[in-house]
Amino acid sequence: MSDMRAVVIERHGGPEVLTLADRPSPEAGSGQLLVDVAAAGVNYMDIYQRQGLPPYGGNLPVVPGAEGAGTVAAVGADVSGVAVGDRVAWTGVPGSYAERVLIPADRAVPVPDGIDTRVAAAVMLQGATAQYLCHDTFPVAEGDVVVVHAAAGGVGLLLTQMVKRRGGIVVATTSTTDKAELARQAGADHVTGYDDFGALAKQVSGGAGAAVVYDGVGAATFDDSLAALRPRGYMVLYGAASGPVPPFDLQRLAAGGSLFITRPTLAHHVANREELLRRTGDLFSWIGQGQLQVRIGATYPLEDAARAQEDLGARRTTGKLLLLPD
Ligand SMILES: NC(=O)c1ccc[n+]([C@@H]2O[C@H](COP(=O)([O-])OP(=O)(O)OC[C@H]3O[C@@H](n4cnc5c(N)ncnc54)[C@H](OP(=O)(O)O)[C@@H]3O)[C@@H](O)[C@H]2O)c1
Repeated sequence: MSDMRAVVIERHGGPEVLTLADRPSPEAGSGQLLVDVAAAGVNYMDIYQRQGLPPYGGNLPVVPGAEGAGTVAAVGADVSGVAVGDRVAWTGVPGSYAERVLIPADRAVPVPDGIDTRVAAAVMLQGATAQYLCHDTFPVAEGDVVVVHAAAGGVGLLLTQMVKRRGGIVVATTSTTDKAELARQAGADHVTGYDDFGALAKQVSGGAGAAVVYDGVGAATFDDSLAALRPRGYMVLYGAASGPVPPFDLQRLAAGGSLFITRPTLAHHVANREELLRRTGDLFSWIGQGQLQVRIGATYPLEDAARAQEDLGARRTTGKLLLLPD
């Protein structure tokens, strides 16, 4: 059995626990594909997994990462419609920080001709998230005032473009002028810092407040996000880049104007193959038509996974980060 290189976590902790190791190359079993990884996505949940935060921790040792794209190297028994050499992409598949990974065939998304393999890897998790947030969690309508936090980030840049496609008016937050410029290029109508987005959303909406706030920042923005909403507005808390939001008194929703609150996750929006293919199909078709620009903010060799996670956690990054195994 040949070896492959993979990033391994032997104990939970800081970025230093991400080490490169030789592992036996896995073999495709029934219903599985063995894939040569061209690019693996780096995501916040990988940091939580490294730190051992519930529910991402799990048993050790483990090869982290859940997203990527590559070329099928072997097809297991009972799999049809896929051949060696096909390009596929995935999200929600453990062990992606590696040269090779086993993919359940029903989680493998064919990468259409004309879509770059790295771009496919870059949109599977954050793109599908942005897609469900503005189409299903709160379907943005023409003229809605929409707050998008961390708009130069992985989800943020994609979400901003998708909200604009649906006719929303985007009030974006970023922490630097360079990030603000990226948010503007993605279509944000108004860009500000984290101190006055609520006042700006009120002003832009004629005093009413935002129809929805998409908040992946969490603890640092939560209270101001709630206060930025119009009566019956939607608080969509989808992440915790600044830390988790503490326990919450539901009475605050009444006082804030009969508000709605939800805490969605991608897994429940790509739970079956039809949904997975529909959401990723939207992404690939928008990319193909030039309606969705994908920013790969940085790439790292596999052995620099620690540096990639450090950069992401220290808010030094924009767009998508990818690990490239070769
Ligand atoms: N629920 C879901 O389905 C789902 C799916 C994907 C991601 N997420 C979550 O969404 C969040 C964003 O994910 P992402 O991958 O798109 O990350 P990202 O936006 O590329 O990076 C996080 C950004 O958050 C901003 N931020 C504000 N305060 C921060 C702080 N104290 N520490 C670190 N960053 C801070 C930074 O942008 P500025 O410098 O501009 O402030 C930073 O670049 C994460 O919590 C992730 O777990 C959830």
